[in-house]
Amino acid sequence: MTHYNTQREEELKSNHWLMNGDCLKNMDLLIRRGIKVDAIITDPPFNIVEKIGASNIHLFKQGDKAKNTSMTKENMAFDIGFDQISWLSRIPKLLRQGGNLIIFNDWENMGDIAKELRGLKIKVKSLNHWQKNNPCPAEWKRRFVAGREYFLHCTKGGKNTFNVDKVHKGCFTYPLTKKSEKSFGKHPNQKPLNLLTEMLEVLTNEGQTILDPFMGSGSTGVAAKALNRNFIGIELDNKYFKIAETRLNEDRT
Ligand SMILES: C[S@@+](CC[C@H](N)C(=O)[O-])C[C@H]1O[C@@H](n2cnc3c(N)ncnc32)[C@H](O)[C@@H]1O
Repeated sequence: MTHYNTQREEELKSNHWLMNGDCLKNMDLLIRRGIKVDAIITDPPFNIVEKIGASNIHLFKQGDKAKNTSMTKENMAFDIGFDQISWLSRIPKLLRQGGNLIIFNDWENMGDIAKELRGLKIKVKSLNHWQKNNPCPAEWKRRFVAGREYFLHCTKGGKNTFNVDKVHKGCFTYPLTKKSEKSFGKHPNQKPLNLLTEMLEVLTNEGQTILDPFMGSGSTGVAAKALNRNFIGIELDNKYFKIAETRLNEDRT
């Protein structure tokens, strides 16, 4: 269900605007309103449930002990059959000239996403990663730990904001999301605030507006708000939307 009314626009004036509904419909609505954002930083579903299989998602082995995770098939229903491509066509209409774009995803999907973006005249600058310094080992006796999440850094024309004093190596090293950041409820793919904070500091300036069309528990918005940026977030699932709303309205992580 899409909650759209003028009150939501008022919320943006007070620095965030949260939309509970499908990102295609809500991005179209933003386009019709003539809204442009300075950056899009987002973490869509990765289609990993079908790839990994339910048994591995349910049970990650640490040493000889089985450990449950919140990445169950039920919690990750949004991931199954997710269309990686359709939403990309909205990006050029929403991102201002010189705006930055970050898209997290599984490495296997990155080629298709990059190809589509190039066709939309979005410049794909680099493939970078978040290095987890405490990754969760899966089937540790038979495979290497997958301790990275990849993201594409892209821009739309012009000179993009890039606030660095020295060369940025493109590797963001942070631990998994802290428990203290999940006090309002858990999202199975919640990103850590310190990772998003660094990204926002490099790619945006105070007072600018960031869109996350797959905001989940609202981590991009919480980091944006703490850095005096404006935020527009879209989330389909009411349970995760409520977590995001509480985190942003309560001004707590
Ligand atoms: C990988 S999670 C994002 C997690 C987020 N980065 C966080 O820190 O909590 C992707 C989110 O996209 C949402 N989603 C899936 N399809 C969507 C759609 N069509 N429109 C809006 N949100 C969608 C899912 O419900 C899920 O919460």
